Amino acid sequence: MDGLGRNHSLPTALADLVDNSVDAGATDTLIRIVRNAGRLCSLYVVDNGSGIAAEAIDDAMTLGGHRKYRPGDLGRFGIGLKAASFSQARRLTLLSRNQRGQAVGRQWELGPHQSGFLCGVVPEHFAAGELAREWNLPQGAGQTVVRWDEVTGFPATDDPARVEEYISRTLVEIRQHLGLVMHRLLAARRLKIWIEVEEAETGECGSRFEISPLDPFGYMRSGKSGWPKNLVGQADGLTLSMRCHIWPGRSQLPEFNLPGGADSRQGLYFYRNDRLLHAGGWEGIHAGDRRLRLARVEIDIEDDTIGLFRMNPEKSKVSAGPKFSYLCEEARAEDSTTLANYLQAAETAFRDSRRRKMQRKRMIAPGRGLAPYLKKAIEREIPILENEDSIDIRWTPFANEFFFRVDRENRTLWLNDRYRAALLGGRRGQLNDMPVLKALLYILMEDLFQGEYLGPKDKDNLEIWQELLTVAARGEIS
Ligand SMILES: Nc1ncnc2c1ncn2[C@@H]1O[C@H](COP(=O)(O)OP(=O)(O)OP(=O)(O)O)[C@@H](O)[C@H]1O
Ligand SMILES: [Mg+2]
Repeated sequence: MDGLGRNHSLPTALADLVDNSVDAGATDTLIRIVRNAGRLCSLYVVDNGSGIAAEAIDDAMTLGGHRKYRPGDLGRFGIGLKAASFSQARRLTLLSRNQRGQAVGRQWELGPHQSGFLCGVVPEHFAAGELAREWNLPQGAGQTVVRWDEVTGFPATDDPARVEEYISRTLVEIRQHLGLVMHRLLAARRLKIWIEVEEAETGECGSRFEISPLDPFGYMRSGKSGWPKNLVGQADGLTLSMRCHIWPGRSQLPEFNLPGGADSRQGLYFYRNDRLLHAGGWEGIHAGDRRLRLARVEIDIEDDTIGLFRMNPEKSKVSAGPKFSYLCEEARAEDSTTLANYLQAAETAFRDSRRRKMQRKRMIAPGRGLAPYLKKAIEREIPILENEDSIDIRWTPFANEFFFRVDRENRTLWLNDRYRAALLGGRRGQLNDMPVLKALLYILMEDLFQGEYLGPKDKDNLEIWQELLTVAARGEIS
């Protein structure tokens, strides 16, 4: 019992409970964290799946309790619920009713020193009461409530600042992890996962967030033409299929910059029944390398290839044996591309994306008036001129109606204040307001701040832009 779930964190433990909801055919799962008198104490996971029959609930609470698994089930070991729960909490309460409607419940509490194997029967009226609370989930065939008390990872304080900090950090971690491991199910709308915080004194809940999918292959265009490719390896009647992707370089999408950092997320992604079990790492078929950071391989573990792998009971890691390495070496695409060719292509894509940047025309750095994230994006995409002072883009009152003024001496592109309110359309003005407008102006006019003087072509362009932008800005006002 003590060893169970040692590799769990709160997000991975919750994923294990969500697995059970999926197996029960739930369309909705709710995670509710409970705060009582300022202190976090309990956590609920509630679903509208098929529920548990009265005669099956003892098996459900049994370690390694057996049931018949159907193809497509996420369950496998008969320990997930218990291991996940006791890795996070000292008391587990399971309450459920299936379509026959009888409320049943069991409660299991770890003793102060050792773990007992005795599990209590929850009186039917208490079970019914918990099930009947306002969970605000769509009606399903049945309903199951998993409740954790004395959650060990919650901060032992009622200091509002620390509790708030913990909540916001933890909600992000949970949303990222569940969004990642469940991304296929979430994207297919087979399942919705909600998360909220309840104040126990009033019974009221704060805003309810829906967890959105975080697809590790969710790039907008491939990093290299011709990819992804499917590589298939065969040996001893086993078929292993791998879909090899190459991300575009310098992506800022959260789908690329997964928790832990993109570099550590290169490599293999194992799915079983559309649940992501393992997100990154090469499992011995290759060494991790910064130059391979764009390479991600999607592998679905099917029933006939499951023997090649071992998953840990926490379902957060898959290890592969020598046979898997062999199949990887044998694998070929239709055009006979090998895994080695793939890794080479991913490395080339990475090198090219860096080289492409260095070949771009250098530009002057943006200065005040542009938001930090925008400056970062510019510096990521464009090599910056080292010896030039940066350019500010600022609002100021003008004596005339012109939209802008290029002030080379002060390294500033001034914008006429009289148009600001109209362009903001009711939003509040700030130093870094209107990022789209300013990014466009920067792209258009950065050039004018380079060199000793403006050529005739520059001057003519300035006239055109001034005329058009002033007309457009007046249009915004009228
Ligand atoms: N939310 C739920 N709805 C319906 N039945 C559930 C739910 N949670 C657990 N059960 C029942 O309890 C049993 C035990 O769950 P548990 O997670 O411990 O093991 P498992 O899912 O069978 O296997 P694994 O160890 O791989 O998770 C499940 O097989 C299922 O029958
Ligand atoms: Mg399970």
